[in-house]
Amino acid sequence: FAFDAESEAEISRILARYPAEKQASGVIPLLWVVQFQMGRTTGSAWVPKVAMDVVAARLGMAPIRVYEVATFYLMFNLKPVGRWHLQVCTTTPCWLRDSDAVVKSCREATGIHHWGETSADGLFTMSEVECLGACANAPVIQVNVDYYEDLDGANTLELIEALRRGEPPAPGSMIGRQASSPVGGRT
Ligand code: FES
Repeated sequence: FAFDAESEAEISRILARYPAEKQASGVIPLLWVVQFQMGRTTGSAWVPKVAMDVVAARLGMAPIRVYEVATFYLMFNLKPVGRWHLQVCTTTPCWLRDSDAVVKSCREATGIHHWGETSADGLFTMSEVECLGACANAPVIQVNVDYYEDLDGANTLELIEALRRGEPPAPGSMIGRQASSPVGGRT
C-alpha cells in the first residue's frame, strides 16, 4: 500500500494541525484517509493491515499502537466491503419506528442474509450498527459516510435500487424532513 497524490495532499493538511512532536495525533485521520483511498481506487473502502504499517511508519508510531486504534473504532472496516456499505441502525428508537422493515428490504434487495456479508455481485455489504445519533429521523441507514433517514420498507428498496444503478440520492431525510444529523454530504 502507498498513499496516492490525492491522499498525500490531504495528509499534509492533516499533519499541519499538529506540532512536530505530536504527529501521532493524526492516526485516526490518516486511517480515514487510507479507507477513503481504498474506496476511491478499488471500490472497497477498508483498511488493510499493510496500510496500518504505512501509517505507523509515517507517524513514527509502533505498529501495535495503530492496530489498537484501527481495531477499536467500528468506523474502520478491517476487511473488504462492497461498493455500498449499508450500516443499518437497529437500536431502540430506530426499532420502534420499524427498522425491521428496513432490514427486510435490505435483505430482499441485496440477497444478503447475515450481518457482515457482502452480496454476490460485490456491490453491497450489510452491517448492523448501534445508534447513529440521528434518532429524530429514525430509522436510519448510513451508506458509506452518508446518512439516509426516515426510511421505511418501500423507500429503502428504492434507495438500494438507486445505489445499484450508481445513482445515490441526496443524503438526509427520504421524506423531506429537515435532516437531524450533522453528518452528510460526500467528502
Ligand atoms: Fe437509530 Fe439513534 S437509534 S439513529
